[in-house]
Amino acid sequence: MTTIRTIPTEPIDGQKPGTSGLRKKTVVFQGHHYLENFIQSTWNGIGGVKGKTLVLGGDGRHFNSQAAQVVIRMAAAGGAKKIIVGKRAQLSTPAASHLIRKHGADGGIILSASHNPGGANGDFGVKYNISNGGPAPESVTASIYDATKVISEFQILEAQDVGLRIPETVMLGDMEIEIVDNVADYAALMQELFDFDAITGLFKSGFRMRFDAMHAITGPYAQTIFEDMLGAPPGTVMNALPLPDFGEGHPDPNPTWAKTLWDEMMSDTGPDFGAASDGDGDRNMIIGRQAYVSPSDSLAVLAANATLVPGYRDGLKGVARSMPTSQAVDRVAAKLGIDCYETPTGWKFFGNLLDAGRATLCGEESFGTGSDHVREKDGVWAVLFWLNILAVKGGSVADLLKAHWAEYGRNYYSRHDYEGVDSDAASALMDHVRGQLASLPGSTFGTLTVETADEFAYDDPVDGSRSEGQGLRIAFAGGGRVVLRLSGTGTEGATLRVYLEKVEEDPAKFAQDPQEALAETIAAAEAIAGIKARTGRDAPDVIT
Ligand code: G1P
Ligand code: ZN
Repeated sequence: MTTIRTIPTEPIDGQKPGTSGLRKKTVVFQGHHYLENFIQSTWNGIGGVKGKTLVLGGDGRHFNSQAAQVVIRMAAAGGAKKIIVGKRAQLSTPAASHLIRKHGADGGIILSASHNPGGANGDFGVKYNISNGGPAPESVTASIYDATKVISEFQILEAQDVGLRIPETVMLGDMEIEIVDNVADYAALMQELFDFDAITGLFKSGFRMRFDAMHAITGPYAQTIFEDMLGAPPGTVMNALPLPDFGEGHPDPNPTWAKTLWDEMMSDTGPDFGAASDGDGDRNMIIGRQAYVSPSDSLAVLAANATLVPGYRDGLKGVARSMPTSQAVDRVAAKLGIDCYETPTGWKFFGNLLDAGRATLCGEESFGTGSDHVREKDGVWAVLFWLNILAVKGGSVADLLKAHWAEYGRNYYSRHDYEGVDSDAASALMDHVRGQLASLPGSTFGTLTVETADEFAYDDPVDGSRSEGQGLRIAFAGGGRVVLRLSGTGTEGATLRVYLEKVEEDPAKFAQDPQEALAETIAAAEAIAGIKARTGRDAPDVIT
C-alpha cells in the first residue's frame, strides 16, 4: 500500500522557466518545498502526468540524486504510467532527448544547470522537455509559469528512495520505473550515424586526441565511445569521473574554463585533436593542434562536409543558426543551395525546423551544435562528426579550416561577456542602444559603415508564433556585425553579451588573431554602447 500525500503550498515568486528551464542557486532548490512546488507546477502546466511516460536524468551535480527521488515520487503521485530513469538518475541532455524519442515518451525532466558551476554553493536546474525530445517551447514554459502563480498544493507519494544503481524495472505504487544504462542507447545511435570503422582506423594510424569531460556527465559516454568502441588509447578522456561539484571546476568548454586542454592543444607537440563538453553534455569545443575552431566555424565546416558522414550522406535539408552566431554557415548554405534559418538564441527555436524537416543541422555560437538525430545540441556527436570528417579527408584540423576559409571566406568572430553587471545599468545600456537604432544606418566607425540596425524579432515559419526583443543587431556593409543582448541564463545580476563579426575574403589575412582583426568592430561597439562607462568595466570577463 502506498499513500499519496497532499501538501498545501503557495505561489513562489520568480519560478519562471527561461530558455533552459528553471535555474537557481542549489540552496534555493533545496529550500522548503521549493522543488516540489516547481515540479507540481510543471505537472499542472502540462495538463498533468496521469497515464504518461516520462524520462528522467541529470548531469550528476550536487542535489541530483535527492531531486530525482522527489520527481519520481511526484510522478507516481500524479498517476504517471512509467518513468524511464538513467542509472544513478544520470543522463546527458542529448541522451535524455534520445530516450524520449526512442520510447515515444510524453516528455522528460532533466536535472541540470548545464555549464553553470555545481556543488553546494553552485547552481541547480530543472528543465522539462516535450515529446519530440526537445526543450519545452515558450507556450509550454508560459503555462508552467502560470501554474506557479496559482499553485495551492502538491502531491507526493509517501515512500522510501528507489535504488537506481542497476538497470532493472521496479514498481512504485502503480508506476513502473525502468532504470536504464546511461550510455548504451546513445552509443548505438552514434554508431548508426558515423563510420566507426573509419574513425577506428584513424586512431590506429596514431592520431592522438584529448577529450576533456570536465568531471561532468560526458565522462562515461566519452570513455565508452572513444576508448572502448573506437580504440582510442586509455587516458584519451581526461577528467572522466563525474563529480557533484565538477572537481570545483566551471564545466563550460571554452578557452577560459578548459584552460589545461587549451594549453596542451596550443603546444606544437600537442595532440592532433582536442575537444571538451559541458556539465550536461550538450555543448562542445573543438580544437586542432594550434588551431582553435570557433563554434560558428565548426557549424559551417560540418555543413560543408556533411555528405562524407553516413548519417548525412543524402545531404542536408537546410541549416539553422541562432541570430548572434556568425554567418559562416550562411555562405555554405548559399553554395549548397539550401535554406539557412536565423533563429533567436536558445535551442528550443530549432525544434520546429527540425520536426518539419526544414533543417538538418543547427548551431549556436555558444558551443552548441546538433542535428535532427535528437532535439538538443549534442557535444559527443559534434566530436564524432569532426573525427569522421578527418578520418575520410585526412590532414589536420588547421588544414581543413584553411581550405574552408579559402573556399568560403573567413568570418572573424568573437563574443565578449560582461558578467554580474548591475541589472539596471545593463538595461539602461540596452535602452541607450535601442534608442539609436533608427538613426544608425549610414553612420561610420573607422572604415565601417552601418547598413542596417534593428531589434531582432522572429516569426516561426512552422507555427507562426512571434518572439520579440531577441537582441540588438547592427550590420555593417561587407557582412560584419555588432550584436548586443542580455543573457537569459545567468543567476546573478545581468550578463551583457557583445557579439562581434567581420568578414575577410583575402587569404593573405587569414592568419590574423581574431581580436586584432576585430579591433575596429570592437571600437564601434564601444562607441555605440558606451560599455566601459555603463558597466564600470575596463574589459570583458570572458572572451570566446
Ligand atoms: C546561453 C547561450 C545560448 C544557449 C543557452 C543555453 O544563453 O548564449 O546560446 O542556448 O545559454 O545553453 P544566454 O545566457 O546567452 O541567454
Ligand atoms: Zn549544457
